[in-house]
Amino acid sequence: MSSKPIGIFDSGAGGLSIWKEINKLMPHESTIYFSDSKYSPYGRKGQEYIIERSIKNTEFLISEGAKVIIVACNTATTNAIQVLRSKYDLPFVGIEPAIKPAALTSTTNAIGILATEGTLSSSLFHETSQRYTKNKVVIEQQGDGIVELIESGKIKSQEMKKLLKIYLAPMIKNNIDCLVLGCTHYSFLIPILKKYLPKRVKIIDSGYAVAKQTKKILENLNIINTSDNSFKKFYTNGSIVTITDLMGWKESKIIKTP
Ligand code: DGL
Repeated sequence: MSSKPIGIFDSGAGGLSIWKEINKLMPHESTIYFSDSKYSPYGRKGQEYIIERSIKNTEFLISEGAKVIIVACNTATTNAIQVLRSKYDLPFVGIEPAIKPAALTSTTNAIGILATEGTLSSSLFHETSQRYTKNKVVIEQQGDGIVELIESGKIKSQEMKKLLKIYLAPMIKNNIDCLVLGCTHYSFLIPILKKYLPKRVKIIDSGYAVAKQTKKILENLNIINTSDNSFKKFYTNGSIVTITDLMGWKESKIIKTP
């Protein structure tokens, strides 16, 4: 049993889509979320940079007492989680594009994957993709510019709509019936994506799976919070407004760090 918090980090506000699932499944757990927006986006910065930022974020969450860390970022998971696991003693839960469920679900045998350059070029992603998508058409698309627009509060902008139309066009042309969201920021785009995609397309994101996996780890290690007290803390080294706008929260809920 442990009343210590679950630590969660992302390059920005995207991982809050994971926090939502965690909070829904385990409302009695304390959580500490860290948004590394000042150094966002990670997607095109290269592995060394992503590892360095992931270590910094992990050390912050450990200093805040985290009992487990969720790397709520596909780019950081695919590029840095192995290093984190070898460097620190506590358990890590990562998030990767849900290629396997998409491959099992697709009947047109055509799958779209929208993710960052960092994720799509990682060896972890390649291995998973190779394993599950033999005999399938996979349309990989880098979502360049999307994270920047979300982080600057332009989620509903014309620029966003224009980008999404361009990115989805080849997928629609190839008759996809599953779209894998390979970046936690993209979950906030689901209402817009639904408008642009044909009805047959199922949008697959990994948020709930991550929450379930985290719960399983807490149960196996016997570190569930059984006390009556819990807290939810949110830190950002970037814009508070990005988070409050996305989540519909008050600014006083977020703590600004240097
Ligand atoms: N939310 C991150 C992910 O899941 C965004 C990466 C970035 O900062 O480019 O990949």
